[in-house]
Amino acid sequence: MNYSDDVIRYDEQAILCLRSLYSRYGYEPYRMSRFEEYGLYADNKAFLSSGDVITFTGTSGKLMALRPDVTLSIVKQTIDDGTTKKLYYDETIYRPEGGEFKEQMQVGLEFIGDIDVSAMGEVLMLARQSLKELSNQSRLEISHMGFLSGLLQNANLNSQQSSRLLQSVSEKNIPEINALFDEYDIDNECREKLATLVMLYGSFDETIDTLREISINEETESALLELEEVYEVLKGLDAHENVNLDFTIVNDLNYYSGIIFQGFIEGIPKKVLSGGRYDELLRRFGKQAGAVGFAVYLDLLEQQYIQYGKADADMPTVSNDMINIALPKGRLGEDAYAVFESSGYGCPGMSEESRRLVFENPENGVRFFWVKPSDVSIYVERGVADIGVVGKDILLELASDVYELLDLDMGKCRICVAAEKGYIDKQDRTLKVATKFPNISRNYYESLGRDIDIITLNGSIELAPLLGLSDVIVDIVETGTTLRENNLEAMVTITDISARLISNKASYKFKHEAISTMCDKIQRG
Ligand code: PRP
Repeated sequence: MNYSDDVIRYDEQAILCLRSLYSRYGYEPYRMSRFEEYGLYADNKAFLSSGDVITFTGTSGKLMALRPDVTLSIVKQTIDDGTTKKLYYDETIYRPEGGEFKEQMQVGLEFIGDIDVSAMGEVLMLARQSLKELSNQSRLEISHMGFLSGLLQNANLNSQQSSRLLQSVSEKNIPEINALFDEYDIDNECREKLATLVMLYGSFDETIDTLREISINEETESALLELEEVYEVLKGLDAHENVNLDFTIVNDLNYYSGIIFQGFIEGIPKKVLSGGRYDELLRRFGKQAGAVGFAVYLDLLEQQYIQYGKADADMPTVSNDMINIALPKGRLGEDAYAVFESSGYGCPGMSEESRRLVFENPENGVRFFWVKPSDVSIYVERGVADIGVVGKDILLELASDVYELLDLDMGKCRICVAAEKGYIDKQDRTLKVATKFPNISRNYYESLGRDIDIITLNGSIELAPLLGLSDVIVDIVETGTTLRENNLEAMVTITDISARLISNKASYKFKHEAISTMCDKIQRG
């Protein structure tokens, strides 16, 4: 049976194409139910991208869930009999995204058994090939959890400390990494090596020497050796082009131990493929086999296809040849623009009084957008802007998935808990907190184990305790004038704030040279 393109949708074509690829390499189709007992996810929350799962009560009274993940179900069903299992699937999963649950289509494969270098190489080659089938402008990015954990071996971090550090690694957030090193009292050698690792990005040939230089112990040596051997396998399979090393790809150390990887397609602002070696998950189920696998997120490709008609080299992106920069309207944006201008990225008309929102200068390859300050990270996360300038308060509030490249050392202020002078929190009832920052407030009080009632306001927060709407406020304090003039006082500083230069993660890869040159120039001042 042959069907024309009008009958088979783009996502269906992509599924068929990937299924036949995996089948050609001996992988067997795997089908499963859309439901699972909720306990499977409750016990393995850290393995999931979010702990939020759609649940319902089954007819037998058991708490059930609509599946947020495929790998857990496959691992649970796997019989640990020493044989190799090569499986592929295409399934719908249910995950929260942008504040609501979404259905997502995933096609993926799992290799379960004895994972030697050639098995690892085969899975990476198939990940590379999957991306190639979908677009001829793609990149496979590889990291190794063993190298990261080896570097941190002597630091003796507890699991909360190491997950904070890994979060900063995933953001390329050198200032935050340094602050954590100070807090955890880790030695300088480790700090410098981790900073080098975090900024390392490029092909195997470009990066492997630096990796050799910063390797410090048996664990990093064995990770390095595995990467080198796998790279040779990829070369032998002619699947080594557009494969880069990027150690800002991190996963939970309780599940992932070895090589992990992600795939990107030009014009799509997020990863479209994610995978890795997850032997630790099998250990949790009492199974001895090793495992590696990956999933391709087809809904992202589908959106791109609907928008542009096809996912290939001709697909237009916002602008491939320019760096698109979102600046916050107002004083902070003007100060930030002055930094870009003095670093050689000026744009005619930007400083003039006008209501224009977009300015570009093809000569130095920049296009600026003036954006509402609280929206900057949304533009960057969604890839409409490649980079942007935003206050750390907004980044913390929105938990934006972006790189935090530089602390611009401007827009300095604090997020504080404040109340009327003389207020005493008797801790005898739920605390009423008025704020523009509900997530920051929730996280702060959760860390103290305090019950709060959050009242989200949009401005003039200081009014809330004065009029009895709340007990305290969580708000920005810059000079302290607003608090003083309203007879309020800061009780606790939750965190210091400054403006950050952020980058979309995919843009950082596809426009790497232009963005890193820009950062260097800004840093040199
Ligand atoms: C911010 C913040 C405080 C004030 C603090 O308000 O919410 O109200 O600045 O600055 P200060 O310590 O220098 O007095 P913003 O000006 O953004 O207005 P808003 O009240 O509408 O949020």
